[in-house]
Amino acid sequence: MELHGVKIVESPDDMRAWSFEQRCSGRTIGFVPTMGALHEGHASLMRAAARGNDAAVASIFVNPTQFAPHEDFNRYPRTFDADCRLSEEIGMQVVYAPTAASMYPEGYATYVNIERVSQGLCGRSRPVFFRGVATVVTKLFNAVLPHRAYFGQKDAQQCAVIKRMARDLDMGIEIVEMPIVREPDGLATSGGGRCAFRVRFSMRVISSNPANGTRRGSWMPCVQARRRWTLTMLR
Ligand code: PAF
Repeated sequence: MELHGVKIVESPDDMRAWSFEQRCSGRTIGFVPTMGALHEGHASLMRAAARGNDAAVASIFVNPTQFAPHEDFNRYPRTFDADCRLSEEIGMQVVYAPTAASMYPEGYATYVNIERVSQGLCGRSRPVFFRGVATVVTKLFNAVLPHRAYFGQKDAQQCAVIKRMARDLDMGIEIVEMPIVREPDGLATSGGGRCAFRVRFSMRVISSNPANGTRRGSWMPCVQARRRWTLTMLR
């Protein structure tokens, strides 16, 4: 299937078959995993993947296992049409958009847990987050079979978790960390809808933690997100 000139692949088996063919003909594969709602930060990763490899793949999958029950999985922004258009413009060959059923079929029971580096910082306020990220990225890697995968330094702890995982599990994939893309106001680029999601999430952190030892430092992302939200709304 194609949308706006980019090939859409929807199952792990079909993705692996495509990637296997690329590898057999000696082509390198660059990969950018995303949850969609693409913005300039993603675009910079995708350009690097397209530039640095013979073939480039972006995945779009809003991963349920990295959301806790109170984290509004259903309200995460979904802009698939625009995301495919941008992917094609940048020169990605494939958008891998697996269905939830193909990723987590009935009876699914396997998770990847990275010790130490997943604990503390974001891992403290979002205890299931890095287990979900490590699990889904492993599954995406197993389908896309990339030579290189690109992540933004904006999510610094996520980068550290993925690097550790790739090394510890002998994945043989180069993890490329790309610099933060910033708005003129200095804050990291983030889509409007995605920002709204983050503000809602941050507000929930504030309202759910006041009595259980939330430290002043851990409120800073909330303050930043709220400032960004205000600026976005004023534009
Ligand atoms: O950074 C993200 O968008 C997600 O955590 C990722 C790496 C795509 C896994 O779902």
